[in-house]
Amino acid sequence: MWPNHGGKSGAIRKLVEKNGRKLEEMLDFSANLNPLGTPVEVIEQMKKAIENESMLYPDPDYEVETEIVAHVEGVNKNNVILTNGGAEAIFLVTKLFQSGKAGILQPSFSEYERACKAHHIEIASIVLSENRTWKDYKSLIKNLHVLIICQPNNPTGTIMDETEMLSLLKWTKQNHVMVMMDEAFIHFVDINSHVRLLSEFSNLIVIKSLTKIFAVPGVRAGYIVADKEIIRQLKSFTIPWNVNCAALGLFRALPKTEGHIKKTQLWLKNEWAWLRSELEGLGFILSHTAVNFYLLKDPFLEDHEPLILFLAQKGIVARHTYHFHSLEGRCVRLAVRTRLENECLVQHLKKWRQER
Ligand SMILES: Cc1ncc(COP(=O)(O)O)c(C=O)c1O
Repeated sequence: MWPNHGGKSGAIRKLVEKNGRKLEEMLDFSANLNPLGTPVEVIEQMKKAIENESMLYPDPDYEVETEIVAHVEGVNKNNVILTNGGAEAIFLVTKLFQSGKAGILQPSFSEYERACKAHHIEIASIVLSENRTWKDYKSLIKNLHVLIICQPNNPTGTIMDETEMLSLLKWTKQNHVMVMMDEAFIHFVDINSHVRLLSEFSNLIVIKSLTKIFAVPGVRAGYIVADKEIIRQLKSFTIPWNVNCAALGLFRALPKTEGHIKKTQLWLKNEWAWLRSELEGLGFILSHTAVNFYLLKDPFLEDHEPLILFLAQKGIVARHTYHFHSLEGRCVRLAVRTRLENECLVQHLKKWRQER
């Protein structure tokens, strides 16, 4: 019954309608998109592109837009390939390791497993916890072709300490293990992208998505930054015209979006400080998130289905964690939304506490 992803899917519609509600009226805390929305510069460029270019085939090499992304990332255009969202980037990179062995730092985004399975890749789960770091898995990682890391991580929102990450990158390079680093949520936090380390670590492949920060899941815009030889190989896998004109408009607007990114980071810092103290005040356990979503655990609950159903009755869609490795329903994932929406969530969680 549970859908694979957040958002208002058909399965959630059924659940909501069973409770006599309309999906359109529900507050969606299950998708982790920027509640500040899409900046006007981006909307304008996308509109212009649709008006002027939807009747034309895009340049199959996306020369102009690739150049723009390369400039924004401070790399050469040969180090960049544009993709149909972060999802295509994940499927393209995993294809490089077809029939090989991949390790996934867990719990993490479920599409990594799906992409590995699609390419007949053997998967090793590397479950990190307070007591176990990547160093406890050295003998396992040594035998991998690729290690998959989500930084900041979905669904926990956590980021690995920089020194720890650097030693992991050094060690994997020495042991000829490639690293696929998914930075889909990096824009929400003021930290440096690992793209800056590409010249030092030729084993690093960085994936980016523009979906979350610009709240445009319907547009499908992402890219990969890596060694030019890897990019050349990835290009040979892509279907022609995989990036549509609206996404190309978004790429063109990218240099003008720094203000929106900074504004989002500032908003999130303040909102999370408030929301965190409210939720901890109610006795919930929260993940140490750095981004726009978090895991919430009721310490009196094992399986969190009753909480998901309670919130659904109150008009709130929470993200279940049944498909996340090593979480398996023992918490829920919630997005940080606007103050008004977050207040509504807190009020209902107060009621949840009172009624139990
Ligand atoms: C960690 C992570 N990477 C990639 C994606 C896919 O992003 P996109 O919508 O750009 O394909 C998601 C979507 O939820 C995600 O959570």
